[in-house]
Amino acid sequence: MPLTRRAFVVGGAHTPFIGKGHPDFIWKRHPDFGKRENPKYDQLLKAAVDGLIADTGLNPELVDRLYLGNFTGELFVHQGHMGAALVGTNAAFKGKPAARLEGACASGGLAMLAGLDAIAAGADIVLVAGVEVQTTVSARIGGDYLARASDYARQRSIDDFTFPALFARRTKAYRERFGVLEEDIGRVAVKAYANANKNPNAHMKAVSMSFEKAAKAGERNVCFIANEELHPYIKMSDCSQVSDGASALLLVSAEGLKKLHKTEADAAEVIGRGHAVDSLFEDGDLTQLNTATLASQKAYASAGLSSEAIEVAEVHDCFTVTEMMMYEAMGLAAPGQAFQLLRDGATNIDGSIPVNTGGGLIGFGHPVGATGVKQVLEIFRQMKGLSGDYQMSTLPNVGMTLNMGGDDKTVVSLIMRNGS
Ligand code: CAA
Repeated sequence: MPLTRRAFVVGGAHTPFIGKGHPDFIWKRHPDFGKRENPKYDQLLKAAVDGLIADTGLNPELVDRLYLGNFTGELFVHQGHMGAALVGTNAAFKGKPAARLEGACASGGLAMLAGLDAIAAGADIVLVAGVEVQTTVSARIGGDYLARASDYARQRSIDDFTFPALFARRTKAYRERFGVLEEDIGRVAVKAYANANKNPNAHMKAVSMSFEKAAKAGERNVCFIANEELHPYIKMSDCSQVSDGASALLLVSAEGLKKLHKTEADAAEVIGRGHAVDSLFEDGDLTQLNTATLASQKAYASAGLSSEAIEVAEVHDCFTVTEMMMYEAMGLAAPGQAFQLLRDGATNIDGSIPVNTGGGLIGFGHPVGATGVKQVLEIFRQMKGLSGDYQMSTLPNVGMTLNMGGDDKTVVSLIMRNGS
């Protein structure tokens, strides 16, 4: 779909993404347990919006519309209707049009698309945010909540940890078809944690991951699903994190830039968009992400570019094998060949096409509704040299995001160009 009015990202903010393994996360073995609590969803959302206002110098009165990505508020925090929660983050937003978008783990991507549609329809300044809190229950109960992103009636019974099991199924099929080694899949986790270790906002900023640990299951890195057939195909280090966090960014038209006294040099333009959705009721080829492929093809077509143009990417690494399949979906590698990019270090921060420089869903964390928004802000920050210790040495000109809901069901892909 062509972008009928130019749209620009001009900044934003993330809260730290926290959960088990993060030094500030309060749980029973933390010295502050019983003395203080982890931030609630509304506090996270307000912190991200306040951070956005500080980052962009926004006068909040100028915001035309607000969109929020959130997946499972009703289950984890007993709260739906979160468009109104976003409005509640600042008195100046009272009465403005706002809505929550839900598309499982692509909820943030859908909020971005709603923001782009609003710009196309005439809005000048749109606030797009995402939030999720998931640490209010155990990972096992959370596995049931997150399973709402699958075809629950048909797929819930695959395992208590439904999504890890669905992607163990993909890992098995992918390894059997292409002969990919477990240790090569483990390289995704090694890169994710190494990048996260440089990122102060990352869930796994203080946890290291050696190649030896990620390459095969062991006492400290267990295979944890009960499904006997799939059990060997997923271990702790292959999984994205159960994180709490929020991200918020500002999307503006060319007129919006003027209202904010900014120029294109302060911004990154969204030049391509792809949105593809597959039926919840069928499974496709387990060895590739067909919906992600379609979404990226649509994004390339609308930007008039091909994969060679991409200089940085944020892809949906909900599990290690997913990142490899994402490389193949966006055309960086032929089917079954993603391992070579990892062996060569091509997707490292200092490689030829850095992917998930802040740690991705595995290292940075995966507060589900925030992820699709976070990805866009991460590309913006790389373009503007704002990524601190994980900054690429050359500022990228063109970047791409791939945000996926469910098992390759709802996919949003955006392409951005650095403004100058
Ligand atoms: N030895 C043996 N078994 C062990 C063990 C050990 N040392 N440590 C843990 N286990 C087993 C236990 O069975 C345990 O469960 P119970 O305690 O309930 O019996 C299970 O492993 C999990 O252990 P924890 O609860 O201690 O694990 P954790 O809290 O550290 O969580 C994780 C680890 C289960 C991998 C969790 O991070 C997780 O579930 N990650 C995936 C999250 C996810 O699926 N997100 C959605 C991604 S899909 C997507 O993005 C698309 C979409 O639309 C949904």
